[in-house]
Order: sequence, then C-alpha cells, then structure tokens
Amino acid sequence: MLVTGKQILDHAHENNYAVGAFNVNNMEQVQAIIQAAEETQSPVIMQASQGALKYAGVEYISAMVKTAAENSSVPVALHLDHGTDFKQIVKCIRNGFTSVMIDASKMPLEGNIDTTKKIVEIAHAAGVSVEAEIGKIGGTEDDITVDERDATFTDPEEAVKLVNETGLDSLAIAVGTAHGVYKGEPKLDFDRIVTIKEKLNIPLVLHGSSGVPEESIKKAVERGINKINIDTDIRMAFNEAIRDFVKNDPDAYDPRKIVGPARDAMKEVIKEKMTMFGSAGKAWK
Ligand code: 13P
Repeated sequence: MLVTGKQILDHAHENNYAVGAFNVNNMEQVQAIIQAAEETQSPVIMQASQGALKYAGVEYISAMVKTAAENSSVPVALHLDHGTDFKQIVKCIRNGFTSVMIDASKMPLEGNIDTTKKIVEIAHAAGVSVEAEIGKIGGTEDDITVDERDATFTDPEEAVKLVNETGLDSLAIAVGTAHGVYKGEPKLDFDRIVTIKEKLNIPLVLHGSSGVPEESIKKAVERGINKINIDTDIRMAFNEAIRDFVKNDPDAYDPRKIVGPARDAMKEVIKEKMTMFGSAGKAWK
C-alpha cells in the first residue's frame, strides 16, 4: 500500500528503528525492493534521484513504484531524493510522489529556510511529506558533488532553526557519511546524532549509507536515525551479478536471463539491510 513518507518515518521514530530508502532507476530494482520488503515484512521507501528522473522519467518511476505498492500489503512511500528544482518537485507531487526532499543545503541558513518553507507549503497542501537537509554531505550522488573539503557537519542550533521555521517532516544531517564508494572507513559523529535528536525529536535521515559498517549503522539507529539511504550497494550487487553471468555464459542474449540473477542479488542485499536497520517485521496493515 502506498503511504506518505511521514507515516513511515513517524512510525520508525516512535518505535526506534530505521527504514531503508533505496534508489530506483528500473523495473528490476523496484521488484527487488518490493520482494525484499514483503519477505521481511518491512515498511520501505523507494526514491528517485535526479539521475533516475533523467534516465527513466518521472512518469515511469511513479507508475512502477505505484504498481508495486498497490499490489503489496507492506507500507511503501515514493520519495524524491535531492530535489533542488521547484518545478520538478511540483511535477513529482502531481505524479503521485508521497514524499519529496528539498536539498537547499548549499545555501546559507536563511536561504535554506526560505526555500524549504516554500516547498513545505505546497507539499503539505497536497498531503505530501518533506525531507530537508542541513550541513553538507560529501561525495557524489548522480549530478550532485560535494568535495570532501566542503563537507560540513550539521550544526544542531541551525537544525533547530530550520525545523522550527519551516515545519518540515524529516531532516537529513551531515555526521560523517558521504555518497558513493568510501576510500577509507567512514567515522560517524555519534554524539552529534544524539544532540540533534534530543533537540529536535523528529525523524532523522542518514545519506551515503552504502559501505558503512554494520556496527556503525546500528549505533546510528540506536541514537535516532530513522531513514537510511542506500544506492551504491544496490548498484554494486547489480553490477557484480551481471558481470558474473556474462563471464560464465558469454553467448547469452536473453535480457531476462542476464538481468534476472541481478534482480535476485539486489533483493538479497536489500533484505540484509532491512534486518540491519531494524525495519524487518515492522510492516503494519
Ligand atoms: P550511497 O550511494 O552511498 O548509498 O548514498 C545514497 C544516498 O544517500 C542517496 O541520497
């Protein structure tokens, strides 16, 4: 069933677990995610990045995710990841997205507040939830790159201001993760998560979560992270399975035979994440 991002994240916030927000670009990813959610009885968020919208288009993404959600009993939210453009956000809302992210984190605080406020106003009028970001998360997510030197951790006082002045539903914070493949082991600022959670008492979001060790993920969830974004780990599973298949059967030419095992491989990775995040068994009717 299709629900709002707020319904999913408020439940996670109240029950101290995190929900995986998995990036989707094609049908196999949507199917892998919904199958994993059903097998683990987990609420789930499927999200489209700027790159996904360019590759597949808003209409395709929305039709695929809505079909998956409507044919399933687990709660599913359809979310826009790193929205930056007002028109595109409106288009997503018109196409049935139940949650949008406005990423104005590159702006100074006042600009971030003004931009987020505007999106909250239109999204809430349509019954759609809003995630915003404060602090700068490093790394590359499709078209958006933040250099390591420009990445800055979230200031808790600024986070309070952004939340109080905009009425947003969930907040992405910068606490040491980065989008893409890590060069070394990421060091998370767990105390900062605790401070921010105590001050805000709302669902918190961790971006750049692929490659973060299980122990760190669990510590982050215990301290108040409720949405965990995963893209790269699913890409890796897809990539590895396709390469293996083609290496073993170089004459194969049926796309279903080549891509089918990749769908299964992605599902296994996603199931592991759902168990790790604590969302397995948390689906409600
Ligand atoms: P990863 O690619 O590191 O998993 O990050 C995904 C993400 O944060 C999407 O917003």
